Amino acid sequence: MPKLNIVILAAGLGKRMHSTLPKVLHPLAGRSLLSHVLDTARTLVPEKICVVYGHGGETVPQTIADKKLIWVKQEPQLGTGHALMQTLPHLDKKGVTLVLYGDVPLTRVETLKKLMAAAAAKYLALLTLELDEPSGYGRIVRSSKGGKITAIVEDKDASKAQRQIREINTGIMAIPNQYLHNWLPRLENRNAQKEYYLTDIVALAVKDGVRVEAAQPDHAWEILGINSKVQLAALERIYQNESANRLLEQGVTLADPSRIDIRGQLACGSDVAIDINCIFEGLVQLGDNVRVGAHSILKDVEVAAGTVIAPFSHIEDAEIGKNCRIGPYARIRPGTRLASEVHIGNFVEVKNSSIAAGSKANHLSYIGDAVVGKNVNIGAGTITCNYDGANKHQTIIEDDVFIGSDTQLIAPVTVAKGATIGAGSTITKNTPPESLTLSRAKQMSIAGWKRPVKKAKSGK
Ligand code: UD1
Ligand code: CA
Repeated sequence: MPKLNIVILAAGLGKRMHSTLPKVLHPLAGRSLLSHVLDTARTLVPEKICVVYGHGGETVPQTIADKKLIWVKQEPQLGTGHALMQTLPHLDKKGVTLVLYGDVPLTRVETLKKLMAAAAAKYLALLTLELDEPSGYGRIVRSSKGGKITAIVEDKDASKAQRQIREINTGIMAIPNQYLHNWLPRLENRNAQKEYYLTDIVALAVKDGVRVEAAQPDHAWEILGINSKVQLAALERIYQNESANRLLEQGVTLADPSRIDIRGQLACGSDVAIDINCIFEGLVQLGDNVRVGAHSILKDVEVAAGTVIAPFSHIEDAEIGKNCRIGPYARIRPGTRLASEVHIGNFVEVKNSSIAAGSKANHLSYIGDAVVGKNVNIGAGTITCNYDGANKHQTIIEDDVFIGSDTQLIAPVTVAKGATIGAGSTITKNTPPESLTLSRAKQMSIAGWKRPVKKAKSGK
């Protein structure tokens, strides 16, 4: 394999986004357009990656914050050829340069490999595509005899006849570096837009007797660029549709493939079922037979086999064991580890806590900074008072504890093994094992109690 350099053009304005955020930083499936392109580029293990930036200033390099990238500022922006010229000092003398675009996020690695194979380290290779609606794109001009590529003509510069050409330039190309160093300084800006067109290197290649090859992507969406929120939303749908189809093909049951959003990576075991309107963010792993109820949001979560998540649950940065029952309306926050067969019911919030096998908190509780043992029953409305206004403290609940409803556990505190806490208690001290502890005012009754009566209004 020849040395590979990758240049990503990302200096454009993106005026039609109507946003202060630079275009390439807008998210698609939870990550910026540019991050998608960078991930694809990195998969090809290039010698170096140059990113040409300009509009939006330092926000782009600052947000991406990758020291291995070579950031090249282009100011002013005088066209795609001019953009590439700025990177010339960084490009190797030999090898191949692959040109990608920060606003074309979904080109597949396989397609780029195909393009580089067409370049074979010595030809100029263009990624082209036949479109029914080619207007706006540069057109691929081929010779009438033999059909060899002879030029790319921009839409704005094209003749009426050339506008009929349906083969378009996607902009993505692979260029042998030995020629690139020679061609770029020869570009001129005598055209409709007064820009230095990268596409003019095709005519230079023809002049120099260098063969111009073409490769095509398998899918039209691979070359779609983003210029507006309408296009961004449309490409998001395409991406989600592709992700959903991939899950279906792996055997995952989706109640409705058009109502699932994956903003990261979702790995599923066998016989996983996902109901409608679930969102998966970051890295989510679902074990065999896991079921996810409607409207649930899971971010960076590992769920072991057999667990059922009921609707409207929100789970983030957590490990959920086997055969658990979660939700509906459960909120599981970062740092939570549930062992197997744990039940977390409705309106229960768990944060930075570990809960051992078989324990249950079924209703309306807050469990924060706690270590909960096995077979513990936490009654409705129980709260760990973990925060004193300045510091967080730990609550330890040992195995086989039963905590009555509406108990407050003032941390730091330990409820020892087998203890029972009476309902409504405020526990401020460690409790002994295998005993009943309760803190509750004694109940009393006043016989014949008369309720106050409303006073008659004095006056007129
Ligand atoms: C370009 C191609 C056209 C192709 C189309 C595909 C040229 C001359 N034309 O046209 O043949 O069909 O893409 O979408 O290359 N950019 C910079 N600096 C610049 C100018 C552009 O970084 O000075 C970046 C933009 O951010 C954008 C990309 O290059 O990501 C393409 O620029 P744009 O002006 O949109 O090119 P088109 O006119 O669409
Ligand atoms: Ca342009």
